[in-house]
Order: sequence, then structure tokens, then C-alpha cells
Amino acid sequence: MYEKKITIIKPDDWHVHLRDGQILKKIIKYTGKFYKRAIIMPNLDNPIIRCSQAISYRNRILRSMNSNYKFEPLMTCYLTPSTTLKEIKLGFTKKIFIAAKLYLRDSTTNSKIGIKKINDIIHILEYMEKIGMPLLIHGEEIDKNIDVYDREAMFIENTLEPCRKKFPKLKIVLEHITTKESVEYVKEHDPKYLSATITPHHLMLNRNHMFFQGIQPYLYCLPLLKKKLHQQALRKVIATGDKHFFLGSDTAPHLHKNKINFFGYAGIFNAPSSLLCYVTVFEEMKALQYLQSFCSENGPRFYNVCINKETITLVKKPYKVLKKINIGKDIIVPFLAGKTLNWSLET
Ligand code: NCD
Ligand code: ZN
Repeated sequence: MYEKKITIIKPDDWHVHLRDGQILKKIIKYTGKFYKRAIIMPNLDNPIIRCSQAISYRNRILRSMNSNYKFEPLMTCYLTPSTTLKEIKLGFTKKIFIAAKLYLRDSTTNSKIGIKKINDIIHILEYMEKIGMPLLIHGEEIDKNIDVYDREAMFIENTLEPCRKKFPKLKIVLEHITTKESVEYVKEHDPKYLSATITPHHLMLNRNHMFFQGIQPYLYCLPLLKKKLHQQALRKVIATGDKHFFLGSDTAPHLHKNKINFFGYAGIFNAPSSLLCYVTVFEEMKALQYLQSFCSENGPRFYNVCINKETITLVKKPYKVLKKINIGKDIIVPFLAGKTLNWSLET
């Protein structure tokens, strides 16, 4: 039977939360199956702030991965008010850290030790600009008076633009963008210095989905799903093949007991289906010709790393997303659990 197929260079995922311990062991294979490399976020319960921690975390990741996959974890340094230039220099020159991550304090999961104001780390940013080390940003303001739906747009105005003016050659990735303002802002700048990642869930869904037939805690993530007009802006821009934008799934597993709680955690675990979601959206947008640049080329170009040699083939064949993963007595529920997508990985 004729099946629609697409073969692309094996993608990289430029924004992944792998967690640690038992969770890491159970979920890592989903990223290894689809992606050659991944940028590993440092926001563990015990955050990765030093080179020594990154080296041992990287080893734990590699030990947890099935040897069938030649997977390369790329480590990041969590910036805190006490991060030293020495650590940054050592980490970047010895290729322990590919980038450093900026979380404003209390902006998201495990961000208590984040930065209060970007001005507190000016000396670090100046140094990163000098050595060409990328800065990865969770771009949301933290002022409690700012409406949660405006925090990303306000971040650009209040924090990102002044920072960019000060450090025009600092390489910045605005992570998991969700708004039309972000799309427009990123597009205006040189992609060598400013690029952005986009998640599958922000491409597929908008905030209506989070409240469809009741509150859907498994669609709660940060930044929040936005209005449809923002979702459309994201979909439209990737369908033009614009080089500023690349794949970063923000797969972020949490135990069920932490998702369904008085204070539910933010994060969507999409690793089992992220690539299949992206291909679905590119097909819907009639833009499959740009799937490869988004998934496998624009990211490496920004990070100055080689493009992968392996390829991966996706076929238009129904794929049912697993319902849950058992973790001891608890479970992790993936994005689109139990739903069927039209694309699968060729076996
Ligand atoms: C992420 C997590 O759980 O670590 N959560 C999320 O909703 N995206 C953190 C983050 O990337 O903001
Ligand atoms: Zn994230």
C-alpha cells in the first residue's frame, strides 16, 4: 500500500527536561529514539550550577540510555546570582557547557535560585558575549502585578530589548516562544544573535484547549498556552522556513501526584510524540519542505555545530500515544495520552 513518507536529517531537540533518578531512566529513551542531540535543561531539584555537577549528570544520562541510540546530551549551566566567571569560562572552553540558562527567580519549575533582575549578572553576560557562549532565556517577567498572559511580551520590552542593546553580539535563544510579539521581535534581528525555539504544544493548541470540558492540568505549562491568534502566528512563521526558529520541545515530565495537586506543577511531557506532532503541523500548514530546516538545520547553524549525518523516516501511518509510564507507585502521563496521530516513525 502506498504510504506518504518523509526522510529528514535526524533532528536535535534544543530544549529538554530529563530530570534525574528513576524518572530519567524511564523517559530518556523517548528522546533518544527521535533525536541525535538534546540540550539538557539544568533545573533539577538540585540545579546544575557547576561543571562538576554537569559532568556527573551527563554520565547519569548516558548510563540511563539504551545503547541502541547514539545520543549526545548537551549540558547547560543554571545562572544564579553567585555564578562565577571562572565556572563559565571553564565550562565553555572545556566544552562541558554548550550554553547558560537564565531563569528569573520563581518564573517556573525549580527557579527559586534564579536571577532577580538581569542587571545582577551583567558581568556574566558581558563575558558570555566576548566568548560567544549562548544565553538561553525563559522569557517571562516575574512581577506579580503583570498579568500572566502578558509576561512574555513584557519581558521583551522591559528586559530583553535593553539587554540586547547593551550586548548586541550576545547569542540569545528566546526559549519556547508563545506570542505573535515574540515572533515579530525575533524576526527583526540577525539570526546569528537572536533565535527562538517553539514547542509542539504551542503549535497545536491554544488556551481554549486548557479549559475544554473542564480544567485540563496536563495542558498546564509555562509559558501558558495563549490565544488562538498567537498560536496562528507561531504556525505561520514556521511554515515560511524562517531561519530564526528551531525545534525545542520543552518536554517536561512531572509525576501525576505533582500535576494533580493543590498547586499543580507546570510542564508537558511530549517526548513520546513531539516529532510526530511537529510533522503533523508542518503537513497541516502545507510546509513539509521546511520540516528539515526547523528540526535539523537551523539549530546547529545557531550553535555552530555540525549537522547530523543520520536520517530518520516518518511515515503517514496512525500512531497511538501511550497512556502512561509507571514510575514506582506513581505514573507520568504523556502529552496526547491515548490519542492517535497520523504520523509514525518508520521501523
Ligand atoms: C518546565 C519544567 O517543568 O521544568 N515547565 C514548563 O512548564 N515548561 C520549566 C520550563 O521550561 O519553564
Ligand atoms: Zn523548559
